[in-house]
Amino acid sequence: MRIMLFTGKGGVGKTTLAAATALQAAQSGTKTLILSTDPAHSLSDALDQELTPEPQEIAPNLFAQEVDVYYSMKKHWENVRQLMLATFRFQGVENVVAEELSALPGMEEASAFLWLEEYHREGLYDLIVIDSAPTGETLSLLSLPQVTQSWVMKAFPGQRFAMKGFGAMVRGMTGIPLDYGLDELERLFDKLERIQKVMQDPEISSIRVVLNPERMVIREAKRALTYLQLYGYNVDAVLVNRILPETARAGGFEQYLDQQADYLEEIEQSFQPLPIFKLAHQGREVFGRPLLQEIGQSLYGGRKDFMEVLYQDKPFELREITGGYTARLKLPFVQDKDFTVNKYGDELVVSIGNQRRTIALPRFANYLQVEGYTFEAPWLEVQLKR
Ligand SMILES: Nc1ncnc2c1ncn2[C@@H]1O[C@H](COP(=O)(O)OP(=O)(O)O)[C@@H](O)[C@H]1O
Ligand SMILES: [Mg+2]
Repeated sequence: MRIMLFTGKGGVGKTTLAAATALQAAQSGTKTLILSTDPAHSLSDALDQELTPEPQEIAPNLFAQEVDVYYSMKKHWENVRQLMLATFRFQGVENVVAEELSALPGMEEASAFLWLEEYHREGLYDLIVIDSAPTGETLSLLSLPQVTQSWVMKAFPGQRFAMKGFGAMVRGMTGIPLDYGLDELERLFDKLERIQKVMQDPEISSIRVVLNPERMVIREAKRALTYLQLYGYNVDAVLVNRILPETARAGGFEQYLDQQADYLEEIEQSFQPLPIFKLAHQGREVFGRPLLQEIGQSLYGGRKDFMEVLYQDKPFELREITGGYTARLKLPFVQDKDFTVNKYGDELVVSIGNQRRTIALPRFANYLQVEGYTFEAPWLEVQLKR
């Protein structure tokens, strides 16, 4: 089985490209599921078709599902839901609000990952494409189960799984399935941990970062790449969407096109050696299967291996050393040893000849200083000191 997750800033085209990819795969005979975890659920708009919270076959080999946190909790985690509801009520939160709170931030994604865990375990599909919500940190939930665990534990008075005996007593007295809820919660975390390993297995899973040739979007994509790699997820491609064609120049878009050219160059410099795929602005709203199919063709340029893990390496690495960190960057096409390395806030700027490459560091790097660097092709190592 193969898992592919699309991430990127809001509105860049994640849903569109995820749907186009899934369609393309299904058409080549791969049993494919596209799973939308975005509560805004624009996947049904893109496919121009109503979708359900269970997988539904919408074309030969193509299944689609819009994850709904309430539906998922009711179906699989009713005891956890009851437990959370009871807890919030106990803390004086009104009923309606308590219902709403049982879908805490992160629950949408958590429930999507639980579905994914089931599909993976049962081997139901050859490919699962995940159209995720526009959060830069889509996977932080999954990368740090301990943290998730701790926020869940914070929501409960009395704490800890050691409450089970007490839970059974509460169930006897009040009917609230406290002990079952705690059991369920434990299983839930086991499953999240299991699927985390699958998502971090570069033979199975990869992340595709979608972006547009625009300043803010590129910044966010770089940051996403840094964090994903830091958390141990494999990014295997960058997809540049909504590129204006040169023909727009005549229509008053000269300035935009000039900037776009600069941004496209910046993207090449910053994301290589990752494969970069490009898609033109379609000049109209994009929805419906026929157009999405064309987009899939055009995006991957007819490449037959578009479903495979296209890249499996870490072009960026941060290692802790005494007194600070070493940032390692892969610069595969660079021979020259004449660099300048500067750091502005949490960005590392490497200038090589007339090329400039900026790398987003994790935010804590704000307080680090560049102490020096070494280059041994293709690796540039920058020492950062506290
Ligand atoms: N290449 C494109 N050309 C024209 N419109 C596009 C293109 N890609 C996406 N769109 C449109 O942009 C909007 C946002 O795309 P969407 O895929 O929903 O983004 P996201 O899922 O990242 O929020 C949608 O209305 C979509 O139809
Ligand atoms: Mg979307």
